[in-house]
Amino acid sequence: MTGAGVSAESGLLTFRDSGGLWEGYDVMQVASIEGWYANKELLLDFYNMRRKQAFEAKPNPAHFALKNLEKEYHVNIITQNVDDLHEKAGSTHVLHLHGKLREAKSEKDDSYIIDLKDKPIQMGDVCPKGGQLRPNVVWFGEMVPNIEPAAELVSKADILLIIGTSLVVYPAAGLVNAARRDIPIYLIDPNIPNVAIGNPRFHCLEKKAGKGTPELVSKLLETNA
Ligand code: APR
Repeated sequence: MTGAGVSAESGLLTFRDSGGLWEGYDVMQVASIEGWYANKELLLDFYNMRRKQAFEAKPNPAHFALKNLEKEYHVNIITQNVDDLHEKAGSTHVLHLHGKLREAKSEKDDSYIIDLKDKPIQMGDVCPKGGQLRPNVVWFGEMVPNIEPAAELVSKADILLIIGTSLVVYPAAGLVNAARRDIPIYLIDPNIPNVAIGNPRFHCLEKKAGKGTPELVSKLLETNA
């Protein structure tokens, strides 16, 4: 399971490290369905900017290490990130819980999804049924359609790695509870999230993802060699 922290060393800002402001905007203003209805133009601009940043960003050693892990393990990545850095690093099974920045979907028709790559969405860009296009990301106040497949994957896991997430946003944070009681849970984060502090289930590496992930992956590959 990965969160914003895994992409931090690729130059993409996390959400909660800057006192509730994200790229200078209030998180609830730019990441909620209410925010969308309040000011669609502002949200389109914000996500157009983020899409361009993510398009130009490159995977860091954490993303590459997770790809490497596939040499010996069947790896399923469940990411809360809307960038595609895991895919750029070559990971083959990536489930996006909160959608994808590079996609647009229709406000009126959830099944109308197009790949924008780095292109912007403008007001007036519509689907064939006339619905305004919006980023295909999950905002606060919206359903998380992939939560069930994600819980299914976690429930089948033999090892759980949690990297760079504050574990405060539900339902994603609750996925940890779907893990079998007998499996190891490794957590990599320079600021260990509250839920993991003092919890014997978690093996915590208080490190940045770009350093901690390759270290842990090397150990796991040695164990399985
Ligand atoms: N390496 C690893 N972890 C890092 C690094 C790094 N270099 N830098 C920061 N972190 C950690 C922070 O310590 C924090 O625990 O990454 C975490 C980022 O937390 P959040 O910003 O809350 O991001 P995330 O948990 O992914 O947020 C979940 O909230 O706003 C919504 O939909 C959005 O997907 C997002 C969700």
